[in-house]
Amino acid sequence: MAILVTGAAGFIGSSLCDALLKQGTDVIGIDNFDGFYAREIKEDNLKNCFQHNNFKFYEADLTDIKALEKLFENNQICQVVHLAAKAGVRPSIEHPLDYCQTNIIGSMNILEMMRRHNINKLVFASSSSVYGNCRADIFSEDLKINEPISPYAASKSALEQFIYTYCKLFNLQAVCLRFFTVYGPRQRPDLAIHKFTRLIDEGKAIPMFGDGSSKRDYTYIDDIVSGICAAINYTQTPYEIINLGGGEPVNLRQMIAMIEKHLGKKAIIDHLPSQPGDVDKTAADIRKAQKLLGYEPHTNFEQGIQKFIAWYLTRKKVF
Ligand SMILES: NC(=O)c1ccc[n+]([C@@H]2O[C@H](COP(=O)([O-])OP(=O)(O)OC[C@H]3O[C@@H](n4cnc5c(N)ncnc54)[C@H](O)[C@@H]3O)[C@@H](O)[C@H]2O)c1
Repeated sequence: MAILVTGAAGFIGSSLCDALLKQGTDVIGIDNFDGFYAREIKEDNLKNCFQHNNFKFYEADLTDIKALEKLFENNQICQVVHLAAKAGVRPSIEHPLDYCQTNIIGSMNILEMMRRHNINKLVFASSSSVYGNCRADIFSEDLKINEPISPYAASKSALEQFIYTYCKLFNLQAVCLRFFTVYGPRQRPDLAIHKFTRLIDEGKAIPMFGDGSSKRDYTYIDDIVSGICAAINYTQTPYEIINLGGGEPVNLRQMIAMIEKHLGKKAIIDHLPSQPGDVDKTAADIRKAQKLLGYEPHTNFEQGIQKFIAWYLTRKKVF
């Protein structure tokens, strides 16, 4: 029996596959190499996976129901970790229908395949963006949230609800993990830490939206992978929403200063107004993750930035 990981060629997906394969789990990956960023980067992410005999990969789109049928018919799958998505917040404002197609229709296809093939365990990648511009000091899972401020956030919120419905009706057991800005080796090139590192390194100006006081709760990739693995093994209750954060919000100016320090270069800053869709702050309450999953973030922001920059400096020659 294998675990199906959707979005396996992506930043988080490939890191999770590496960890599962290392512990001897059979893994099936699916990814369509979506054009949001370069295919070569995603192929590189998968290199280590292909060294393992217990890894099987399908290049397919979640919206292609026939391809999914084949995959589910030809494999023994015990559970699904559903990470595939169109993941950018700002592009979702330009292309809401694309986000609906992949994040909602594609995800519904996965839920339907699971129902038809009696696979009843799911871990889903939700996002801190579902909290919108939440006023609370710290974001806990029981806050009433119904004001997403981007189509991306709305798509994640919708899926949490569809998954709840499938748990109620069809005996599904699911954990929706709300990831708070994930960073580290293989981070998507569109995300601020990666983009700023590249621009500062190349001596180009970085766009700083707003006054630099916006805060993000950054989560190091290894901590996210540990949290996903704990959710894979969690079976106590039929449906849970659980935050996975770093627990240490950092503002934009501090983030830039940390990159400057470890890259050894000064940033040129292009001051721009705040962007629609961007939230002012994210701050994860991780007590539920600690209680239910035994989750504990182990990499603080400075250590994480050091590891990211070390990785970036080796990879920049490749890309
Ligand atoms: N990185 C973060 O900070 C963060 C924060 C919150 C939530 N998330 C969520 O975690 C998940 C993984 O994010 P990531 O940062 O690794 O993004 P990523 O873009 O690196 O990975 C997503 C993968 O899904 C694939 N994909 C997209 N559409 C597909 C489709 N129609 N069919 C098959 N595959 C498809 C892409 O090719 C990509 O490899 C996403 O669901 C994202 O929304 C990420």
